[in-house]
Amino acid sequence: MSVTDFVNQYGVDRRHTNSLKWDALDERFGDATLTPLWVADMEFREPASVTDAIIERVRHGVFGYAIDDPAYFDAFNNWQQTRHNLSLERRWLTFDNGVVNSLYTIVNTFTKPDDAVMVLTPVYYPFKNAVTDNHRTLITSELKHDQDTFTIDFADVEAKIVANDVRVLIHCSPHNPIGRIWTPKELEQLLSICARHNVLVVSDEIHQDFEIGDCKFVSALTVADGRYNDHLIVLNAPSKSFNMATLLNSHVIIPNATLQTQFLAGQKCFNQVELSVLGQTAGEAAYRTAGDWFDELVAVIRSNYQYVRDELAVKAPAVHVANLEGTYLLWLDLRSVVDPTTIHEFVQNKVGLAVDYGEWFSDEDQGCIRLNLATKPEFVHAAVQQLLTALVH
Ligand SMILES: Cc1ncc(COP(=O)(O)O)c(C=O)c1O
Repeated sequence: MSVTDFVNQYGVDRRHTNSLKWDALDERFGDATLTPLWVADMEFREPASVTDAIIERVRHGVFGYAIDDPAYFDAFNNWQQTRHNLSLERRWLTFDNGVVNSLYTIVNTFTKPDDAVMVLTPVYYPFKNAVTDNHRTLITSELKHDQDTFTIDFADVEAKIVANDVRVLIHCSPHNPIGRIWTPKELEQLLSICARHNVLVVSDEIHQDFEIGDCKFVSALTVADGRYNDHLIVLNAPSKSFNMATLLNSHVIIPNATLQTQFLAGQKCFNQVELSVLGQTAGEAAYRTAGDWFDELVAVIRSNYQYVRDELAVKAPAVHVANLEGTYLLWLDLRSVVDPTTIHEFVQNKVGLAVDYGEWFSDEDQGCIRLNLATKPEFVHAAVQQLLTALVH
């Protein structure tokens, strides 16, 4: 199926459906007319195989407490094996109602107030909130960047771990918002530093399926044949790949039995969860049947990315566009063309967009913006043209 056919078949108008992205523009940005390229969800409908599975479950008409169906694990594990060369054991997997929920539980379970928790910035801001909301000490290590590619400053990471006695590192892989898919070498270097200093690693792999360029995603679970798995918690979910965040079904993968027992005890204290029946039904159907739909979706994101890159390279080369290896979130650095202190005014009043702002991800990144490319090309094209127009006026 071509990009146009996919967009025609699955594209939806989300206005007036209580969509956070579309219907909260006035509340969040003070202007309901902006083109929303902010929060990470999409304008594409699930394939019929997924909605049919949900409808069949809804027809049964009962939504009482549930246990998971072995078919769920089989479909999920098969997806991991075929897409990521990752074989899971059933006992490693437990469920939560969202990845951010799990982050809060982990911070509460594995650290005490004032303990140090590290993140690599700029990073998805709930990572920072999970630390500061729980009165832990946030330690940041800023990613280095050379041209449009970001890398980890390993010396800085290790020095700060030692200096602050860091207990937990929350890692984003692939990395939102700068779009890196970390290489096995980078992951091993990071995991070995953490192992050396007894730091628990939480690897948030929710964007694992979005491989936009040629880089292949590698789970922390497969690094060095699982050598670091005793100090590792992996979080992921079907919610980004299949646009089902509000079905509240996410995965907590912990190979080490003691660590898993501790996590479950923490979950009991801090955030008791129930399995989401519709989330499980939808997730299982998606992993089992929606591979082709997903690949076509990625083709749309690729084409949107190519458009932004090519247009800006020719018409506004001073705008830095990060290389989009993974995720569908594109990081633009506008600091050489816009005064960072006026960025909101510029983006909203001159360009007409709702975006995620750089300073949400790092104190050092005011003047950068994050664009969500998992949308109809018409919105991305309009956004780029509006940006180009605003830059010359
Ligand atoms: C890296 C990352 N983790 C977690 C989430 C949200 O996960 P959940 O809705 O399951 O809490 C997002 C959403 O954009 C994300 O980008």
